[in-house]
Amino acid sequence: MAEGQFPHLFSPLQIGGVTLKNRIFSSGHDTVMAEDGLVTDRLIAYHEARAAGGAGLVVVQVAGVHESARYTYHVLMATDDDCIPGYRRLADALHRHGCAVFGQLFHPGREIMESQDGSAPVALAPSAVPTERFHVMPRALPTDILREIVAGYGAGARRLRDAGLDGVEIVASHGYLPAQFLNPRVNRREDEYGGSDENLLRFLRESIAAVRATVGRDFVLGLRISGDERSHDGLTAEEATAACAALDADGVLDYVSVVAGSSATLAGSMHIVPPMSEPAAYTVPLAARIKGVVRSPVLVAGRMNQPQEAERAIAEQKADACAMTRALICDPQLPAKAESGRAEEIRACIACNQACIGHFHAGYPISCIQHPETGREQRYGTLAPAALPRDVMVVGGGPGGLKAAAVAAARGHRVTVYEAAPRVGGQVLLAERLPGRAEFGGAITNLVAEAERAGARILTGARVDRAFADAEQPDVIVIATGARSRRPDLDLVGSPAVLDAWQVISGEDVPAGDVVVADWRCDWIGLGVARLLAEAGHRVTLAVDGYMPGQRVQQYVRDVMLAAARRAGVTVIPTVRVYGADAESVYLQDTLTNEAVVVGNVAALVLAQGHEPVDDLVRDLEGYPGEVHAIGDCLAPRTVEEAVLEGLQVAAEI
Ligand SMILES: Cc1cc2nc3c(=O)[nH]c(=O)nc-3n(C[C@H](O)[C@H](O)[C@H](O)COP(=O)(O)O)c2cc1C
Ligand code: SF4
Repeated sequence: MAEGQFPHLFSPLQIGGVTLKNRIFSSGHDTVMAEDGLVTDRLIAYHEARAAGGAGLVVVQVAGVHESARYTYHVLMATDDDCIPGYRRLADALHRHGCAVFGQLFHPGREIMESQDGSAPVALAPSAVPTERFHVMPRALPTDILREIVAGYGAGARRLRDAGLDGVEIVASHGYLPAQFLNPRVNRREDEYGGSDENLLRFLRESIAAVRATVGRDFVLGLRISGDERSHDGLTAEEATAACAALDADGVLDYVSVVAGSSATLAGSMHIVPPMSEPAAYTVPLAARIKGVVRSPVLVAGRMNQPQEAERAIAEQKADACAMTRALICDPQLPAKAESGRAEEIRACIACNQACIGHFHAGYPISCIQHPETGREQRYGTLAPAALPRDVMVVGGGPGGLKAAAVAAARGHRVTVYEAAPRVGGQVLLAERLPGRAEFGGAITNLVAEAERAGARILTGARVDRAFADAEQPDVIVIATGARSRRPDLDLVGSPAVLDAWQVISGEDVPAGDVVVADWRCDWIGLGVARLLAEAGHRVTLAVDGYMPGQRVQQYVRDVMLAAARRAGVTVIPTVRVYGADAESVYLQDTLTNEAVVVGNVAALVLAQGHEPVDDLVRDLEGYPGEVHAIGDCLAPRTVEEAVLEGLQVAAEI
């Protein structure tokens, strides 16, 4: 057993003929970095950063095993020998760091998210049973195509083995094709692939056999499965556990990798990448249940963002290895830090889902709001020390300023952060007070620690104006002064109380009675404030200038927030702008028809109308003899993601 703080986590694990050097792995995740279905240099650089940081295993994202498996326009494919050179370069790069590499063999069945050219393809599933989330009515798989797909698993496995990977897993998780076959509510076939338990298992057994027929017994073969699909008609824990027991008993699988959720429903899909509303390590009991019925090693994924949780799961023999997938997206050095006694230096993932799965769903390469170097390894993976260390004044201790300070100081500059408020953090200090969003504050804890470790000085209650800058004469000034609430011009005639969202979150009194929250940005703020007020006993109308509250928030996060607001009794009016109020009514205007919508008997109007830049210093410093840069919201109000990215970009250049 290894010494150190995490002896179980840093002990080797044997999976088939492969020995993992530790129990931390990056589970398969689509990166939107493949091009034309092939591995790219960008994808290799991304994974190599995790391997260099000490991960024991990288499972590369899903690769389609049949032409009908293209569930997005950017999916990786394993249907042609053309895929081999890219996979080989990837495997070689990871092996150089002692990191094992598996691939995912994939068919989505009816779970088609996007098309290739805008026209909907024919989705294939065991039966013509529609998927609720993507509104797809599939075609029942004809037996000849079913056989092609089964053969595709075998051919894909052969290609990945030829490329030098250490293993493959069949993705039977998240309601994808193999799981559709296992589920009697989705699989209504009357042939040998539907009906009895044996028939429900037949597709998977044949696919496993096809893999074994091409790669033999020695190549690692695993199965990824949702231990509970958490959907009204999804695979239950009983069904998933029974399927694992039966397949494991066949003696041809080398491991089982357990997750939760299903792509098919809104309630199920949030478990694919669980947001901060789910407790850390919450899927470990599902893994433990399956571990109780199989002999193969059991891997688990689900909100493990610190090594302590993974260590516990393994020490308690509830799992044999732990995916720390977003944890590694956020901090590729996590294993190295944990192993060398620097666990407190880990930049913990806060499960905000903004730049990882949020980018994926929007069709962009994944990154991390706390670590925008992710996905940009080729540019920012290694930053050269500053050629000439300079005095850098960072004005504003929000996320953008702190990131600029951390990176500039790490490159050798002499950095001081001046924050006018008594505490650093900027708007994050408010954002973390929205219901269910406390973990968001971790972004500031992490950034402060990084900036201080890098040697930056952080001063609070320290306001900077032109005279101060002229007196200090720093070589470089980075202005990161953020934004304030925006109050649009409204027709107010003896109106109800008018507050902005940040005042409500800060605890200012809201008069008893009905409240209208007028939400222009359709992000976390309007939705969170509406819930906060409803839970405090107000009758709340959330009037959104968009199709729905949270329209701009990553789907899994939004769905949790929508459900909470609904449970709290919030009423929603979509597609309305606010234009005025009188003594007890709020006047809205339908953005589609321009007709008036009046909400009466209102005690308070709460404005969530976005922000405007605090940019006075940008103007005041015109003509300053040194270098001046403005980043984040003081340029144009956006989110933490852009502020941190711009902090990195500026600090990498100065
Ligand atoms: C951007 C992104 C894409 C994902 N795509 C896949 C995928 O292609 N295949 C898969 O099995 N899981 C996918 N997942 C789920 C992850 O493998 C993992 O189960 C999930 O992130 C939960 O683990 P974590 O809490 O350690 O991040 C994806 C996750 C993310 C963040
Ligand atoms: S964007 Fe948020 S959820 Fe995604 S890896 Fe970074 S901190 Fe974690």
